[in-house]
Amino acid sequence: MALRIRDGRIITPTEDFTGDIYAENETITRIEPHIDAKLVAPGAEIIDARGKCVFPGFVDPHVHIYLPFMGTYAADDYESASKAALVGGTTTLIEMICPGAEDQPIEAFELWRSKAQKLAAVDYTFHMSVVRFEEHIRDQFREIVKAGVASFKVFLAYKGALNLSDEHLFAAMKFAKDLGVIVTAHCENADAIDALQKSLLAAGKTGPEWHGPSRPPIVEADGVHHLCTFAELLGTHVYIVHTSCADALREALAARQRGVNVWVESVIPHFVLDDTYVERGQFEGAKYVMSPPLRAKANQDVLWNGIKTRQISTIATDHAPFRFADQKKMGVDAFTKIPNGIPSIQERVDLVHTCGVAAGRLGLQAMVDACSTQAAKLFGLYPRKGAIQLGSDADLVVYDPSYRGTFSKECSYSNVDYNAYEGWEQKGRASVVTVRGKVQARDGEFVGTIGRGQFLKREPTH
Ligand code: URP
Ligand code: ZN
Ligand code: ZN
Repeated sequence: MALRIRDGRIITPTEDFTGDIYAENETITRIEPHIDAKLVAPGAEIIDARGKCVFPGFVDPHVHIYLPFMGTYAADDYESASKAALVGGTTTLIEMICPGAEDQPIEAFELWRSKAQKLAAVDYTFHMSVVRFEEHIRDQFREIVKAGVASFKVFLAYKGALNLSDEHLFAAMKFAKDLGVIVTAHCENADAIDALQKSLLAAGKTGPEWHGPSRPPIVEADGVHHLCTFAELLGTHVYIVHTSCADALREALAARQRGVNVWVESVIPHFVLDDTYVERGQFEGAKYVMSPPLRAKANQDVLWNGIKTRQISTIATDHAPFRFADQKKMGVDAFTKIPNGIPSIQERVDLVHTCGVAAGRLGLQAMVDACSTQAAKLFGLYPRKGAIQLGSDADLVVYDPSYRGTFSKECSYSNVDYNAYEGWEQKGRASVVTVRGKVQARDGEFVGTIGRGQFLKREPTH
């Protein structure tokens, strides 16, 4: 079906003008100040965007949906995650495939893909985690890249679980360089964390408030430095995920200064929540346990400024949903057993608008760049995604900046029993969200089709 969006304020990282957008066969075919009604197909969906912004569909380049992790499984599936993403304006997800060390990579890829295929209402692709890298499994990674997964993920953290040894890290990064594949990386020194965790627990420091002290900023900065050293030696392109603090950002920028091809992602919890949240009583602090941990408030200014100056390329979520009642409570006797993660897939864009744009910290164009275009460019999806151009997919968000509401669990589609932003004022909301020309969400409600989401095959671009 055809789609016409009328009289909206169309915003991309480079443009800001009022006009109409027309889409047929899932793609944008006209962008004009005023599209002649005679050119609009009978039965076309017409959306009045007067007084509203029109953004390219938002891209979340770091989510976990199917995630076996810390003795449990993340609480969402592609149905709940898609609905949450869409009402929040996100039309494309890049999920981390995180297999166990014993799993065959190719089987993990097929498993993650099958879970998305049945239930996705957004378009999606994956970053493929490398959790071990012996010679004999290289062909499997080659096959996965050929199938359209053009980015790897490595963990310098999570000793005894997802953590990759230095020997395998070096080999995997060399392999990625040869294939033109970018390596995304969780940068925290796993051994330092392990030692700090043990000494805190031995001293009886078991509550969620000790999660942060077990992984201080220098541990993250050290991880960034380490990854960038390997990238410098090998020429591999790297993308630091969930950069949380000034120390870690400084290391990445210093490496960039030396000529390393390094890009920086930060995630929404680190922009808006600080380390006081984990101190909440009645074990409520567990809701705010993620890694890297929430940091001292001063770091938030550094992150917002990093977006404004484009030192930081993307704002993702690192959506990793675990219920409070049973899953977070697994760590009631030891913070090391609290599943890490703060669900934010639905709230990301509205939080950036509320706490960034409406607070005067960021312009709308920077918001679009950080929440959509940069991720599409870095991960080989542009200009199909992340753009409002002729030929781009008609993934569009008609956004009402004057909407006022409240973030709450009640409004959330994610399968968790809490909202980390409960009761906060929400400024702005997606009025209409389309995926390839079809309306999938309206005014906070999912109105789309489950299973409509497509796998996005990507070519290596690095
Ligand atoms: O706390 C987090 N970040 N949980 C998800 C796994 C990861 O490290 O990205
Ligand atoms: Zn991580
Ligand atoms: Zn993650």
